[in-house]
Amino acid sequence: MANSGDDDGSGFTIKDMRPEHVEDAGRALFTAFYVDSLATGVPPTYNVASPEQGSSLLESFLSQPAVYKVVAVDAAGKVLGGACMQSGDAYVHAIGPLFVSPNSADRGVGKTLMRSLIEHARKLNAPSIRLTTSAANRKSFCLYISLGFRPVECTSAFFGTVHPDAGECAAFAVGISTEGISTRKMEEADVKVCAEIYSKGMGYDREDDIKAMLTKSPERCWVATTEDNTILGYTTGLFLAGHTMTTSEAAWVAVVSRAIKEKDGDVSGISIPGVLYPRLIKWALAMKLVLARHSWYMVIGKYQRPKDDFYWSPSTYH
Ligand SMILES: CC(C)(COP(=O)(O)OP(=O)(O)OC[C@H]1O[C@@H](n2cnc3c(N)ncnc32)[C@H](O)[C@@H]1OP(=O)(O)O)[C@@H](O)C(=O)NCCC(=O)NCCS
Repeated sequence: MANSGDDDGSGFTIKDMRPEHVEDAGRALFTAFYVDSLATGVPPTYNVASPEQGSSLLESFLSQPAVYKVVAVDAAGKVLGGACMQSGDAYVHAIGPLFVSPNSADRGVGKTLMRSLIEHARKLNAPSIRLTTSAANRKSFCLYISLGFRPVECTSAFFGTVHPDAGECAAFAVGISTEGISTRKMEEADVKVCAEIYSKGMGYDREDDIKAMLTKSPERCWVATTEDNTILGYTTGLFLAGHTMTTSEAAWVAVVSRAIKEKDGDVSGISIPGVLYPRLIKWALAMKLVLARHSWYMVIGKYQRPKDDFYWSPSTYH
């Protein structure tokens, strides 16, 4: 439970997010990211597209007990900002979004919201707290460093609308052969194997997330296999909440290309840790995707880089 005590003189208090906060908070979320987009040149459509979209994202979190969510409100009850964290009993507690209305910036609201999340994660003995933040946003980077986060990866996020077959053509152009790799829809029976691949590569379990993504958006979830149906990796979708993990570069390209094809070439987001996988950046560019932003992947606590021969694309959360 967030501290819902009196204002300590700062002009705001932190409260658990409730239905009555959602409309105001959605507006603050949209405005915060819109202003940030204008200031940093990240396409606004890549962030939250409207106040309504902001509210509906937050509303969806209200019904999820595993998401810890707080708002900062002033004496009149107006929402100044908010923050959310995928929590539950997971190994990784993933923060996002954090937002403060530009009218209330630079008063410590963001830092106080973040402290409330970190305190909650620590109470639950979370081994690892993670987030991603736009590398162009100097303020959020400094804020997170001051709270104990360390930058561990830099990711490049691409989006755009391309030809449905662009993934395969681009693979050919950059010298990646997907011969012998098949792709098909993920099925419930695949989740355990996919989760094993993820935990072998990254050192922690993500089965619940994979299962939840398959339940919520089965049309986005795909696996890459050998011809005898051994799973080589999977994606839970090419959008901010989806992630990908495979056991080879070719399997990564095959499964992501299949997801692109099935969405008629509509890519709302692919995040590539380019230091680890420089050729995948070339692949995204060969496909004529647009680079939307670079982000820092930041961690408090445990972090293991993907092991050799594992190809990982994080969601916007982790
Ligand atoms: C990022 C954001 C949440 C910050 O909220 P805020 O309430 O204005 O931030 P705070 O006032 O709590 O803290 C900002 C800190 O950064 C520091 N800071 C800001 N710019 C800095 C810079 N260029 N160099 C060094 N420090 C800087 C400030 O000094 C302050 O630290 P201090 O309190 O130790 O002095 C807000 O700007 C926002 O909503 N941005 C758009 C959305 C976003 O980017 N969210 C986060 C990414 S997921």
